[in-house]
Amino acid sequence: MRLPLTIADFEARAAELLEAGPLGYYAGGAGDEITLRDNVDGWRRLAIRPRTLVDCSLIDTRTTLLGRERRHPIVVAPTAFHRLATPDGERATARAAAATDTIFVLSTLATSGCAEVAAACPEGGARWFQLYVFKDRGVSRELVAMAAESGYEALVVTVDMPVLGVRERDLRSGFAVGEATAIPMVERGGGRGRMSMPDVVSLIDPALRWSDIEDLAAESGLPVIVKGVLAPEDARRARECGAAGVVVSNHGGRQLDTVLSGADALPPVAEEVGDEIDVLVDGGVRRGTDVLKALALGARAVLVGRPVLWGLAVGGEEGARRVLEILRGELETALALAGCPRASELDSSWVQRAPWAGSGAGHR
Ligand code: FNR
Ligand code: LAC
Repeated sequence: MRLPLTIADFEARAAELLEAGPLGYYAGGAGDEITLRDNVDGWRRLAIRPRTLVDCSLIDTRTTLLGRERRHPIVVAPTAFHRLATPDGERATARAAAATDTIFVLSTLATSGCAEVAAACPEGGARWFQLYVFKDRGVSRELVAMAAESGYEALVVTVDMPVLGVRERDLRSGFAVGEATAIPMVERGGGRGRMSMPDVVSLIDPALRWSDIEDLAAESGLPVIVKGVLAPEDARRARECGAAGVVVSNHGGRQLDTVLSGADALPPVAEEVGDEIDVLVDGGVRRGTDVLKALALGARAVLVGRPVLWGLAVGGEEGARRVLEILRGELETALALAGCPRASELDSSWVQRAPWAGSGAGHR
């Protein structure tokens, strides 16, 4: 299969292939989509300060996450409903991730159950489970137990969705799921038949509190990563509640519009807790240079959401694998050209605010 060359090319091709409803759901953000766009722009506002005459004959992308060494710092973000992109759904994604040594975070809103996804990938591959805590707490406990039993190594607890962001593309298209495509873990939570996103999210508990993070960290038997933190004081609180990490994230610009981009929210969080727990970041990562900048600003890893969906839509498992390979390859090139062959040695001296920031020159 002839696959696109860049993430942007994958995005353009996916937009031709997907139907209007799923495309709007995948691509869209909340409100005026200011944060959605700014996630991409945030990385582009940063210039890289390369060093030269450094031996770059060996490039080392390794990072440490949850105390374990990983071959590279790219993680597949949890995203819902992969069967809308490819018939094999999350099983294809899990295989693509395993083939590229990429951690796969499976969404609670997956179109396959967590055990089925684990079974699709018998040769291994690290997987984390993203938890939406349902109003029916018994169901959430069951999901956590199932994930632990199926070998998921961490819980990524998403905390930025007490209610659904206002997504006008979905309102206009009438986007709904669940009729032709089962969402097994949502069905456990009480979901039935055709559901709009507000229907799905109405099952999630808006009363989730810090004490719940404390309970999950103490009782689940798995390390807990709190996803959806933007303020350093929340990162501190997560650490105090026993979290092993945080994901600095605005949910891909899909929840509250006009919050900070991932790139802008990261540095104060990394400053606050980066020496104590793992800080990850997501939103708008589309190039290896974006990954380099995130690491320089104190992240241990980045999560990528939409690019993987574009890969699935264009080429199923192979497309998703190619997307992950592109990002990894671009990161290796960027490390060599920036004169920092070991990713773990990046620090803030490798980036500065770009002189073109605010001029619109970062735009394609
Ligand atoms: C998401 N995201 C998300 N997050 C989560 O915790 N659980 C989920 O089920 C989903 N579902 C979801 C669906 C779709 C279509 C998208 C685009 C995003 C958010 C996701 O994990 C991540 O934070 C963002 O996607 C990162 O931004 P980029 O890489 O898409 O720009
Ligand atoms: C979304 C939810 C499901 O962003 O996480 O659509």
